[in-house]
Amino acid sequence: MTTLLDTAARTSLKPLPFTPEVARATKEIREKVKRLIPDVEWELHAPFIARINALKKEKNAVILAHNYQTPDIFNTVADFVGDSLQLAREAAKTDAQVIVQAGVHFMAETSKILSPEKTVLIPDLEAGCSLAASITGADVRLLRQRFPGVPIVTYVNTSADVKAESDICCTSSNAVDVVESLGAPRVIMIPDEFLAKNVARMTKVEIITWAGHCEVHERFSAEDIRAFRKSHPGVIILAHPECPPEVVAEADFAGSTSAMIGYVGDKRPKRVVMVTECSMSDNVSLAYPDVEFVRPCNLCPHMKRITLPKILRSLETMTYEVTVDPAIAARARAAVERMLAVGMPTKSHRNFA
Ligand code: 13P
Ligand code: SF4
Repeated sequence: MTTLLDTAARTSLKPLPFTPEVARATKEIREKVKRLIPDVEWELHAPFIARINALKKEKNAVILAHNYQTPDIFNTVADFVGDSLQLAREAAKTDAQVIVQAGVHFMAETSKILSPEKTVLIPDLEAGCSLAASITGADVRLLRQRFPGVPIVTYVNTSADVKAESDICCTSSNAVDVVESLGAPRVIMIPDEFLAKNVARMTKVEIITWAGHCEVHERFSAEDIRAFRKSHPGVIILAHPECPPEVVAEADFAGSTSAMIGYVGDKRPKRVVMVTECSMSDNVSLAYPDVEFVRPCNLCPHMKRITLPKILRSLETMTYEVTVDPAIAARARAAVERMLAVGMPTKSHRNFA
């Protein structure tokens, strides 16, 4: 759970006063998050929430927030929340003129690629991703030379340059469907080695991998999973497929962030541990007060760069605008749109465990 200390450390921009007017404007939202955010913390957040929600209307803006955003953002100012695939779909269809991406840079680029006529803002330009940083467009061109004719499936956690060199994109929600949609005996899957290996366990298609890793999920081990089972008898273990295959193999269910949320909603386990970024449990626990969440905490330092004060600054100053070279964007869009055309994720492919 977010603590006052975390909030102070993450709030580098000036605090705003908690006035009766702010209290009135945020009354309904306060009720919604009461269980999760203590009063003392709320008084720091509420002035930003009130101002951001007013500015969104003024500027015809929407905030798209990933499931890993902290509860003070996820439950208060976000217009749409979801996994990478859901946010990309939302970016493609929104009527708003401005999209503020409460997530990381590749997500903002994907929004810009899908909605080139919109202004796309990211509140902190340094919000990167270890997977996106693990491969360049030049690397992909070399892979093509080395494996002529083998289709390249690229995880959305990559730069526009890398997407532009690819045949099709995927997310963790639809990776198996995308690989099988190509009808090829062999595909190259970049850059997440663990996601690729987890996909390989679910399909007959041969998968060539790249050695990129998510710095959050690579830290979990099979030993951690066994320790959760021992210390919390009966716990249901949900893991993200960016975790190493031996972690996924020991879990009860493995899927994208939205698939994990879906599992909790459908099955209502008594006790659950989400082997993923730590804000997930905070956000999901609000909707399911009857479920006990065991909370190991691996933070994504990139996702945590996004704060309420930075979102406010972003809307006030229209920064930082994310742009993509139109020629690269056109080729990257083709790869993303091919993925979207594969359709909604198949239920039988949701569980990697
Ligand atoms: P999904 O939300 O698509 O499962 O992705 C997880 C992730 O690590 C995004 O950066
Ligand atoms: Fe990248 Fe992992 Fe952070 Fe997602 S959680 S943005 S994959 S480093």
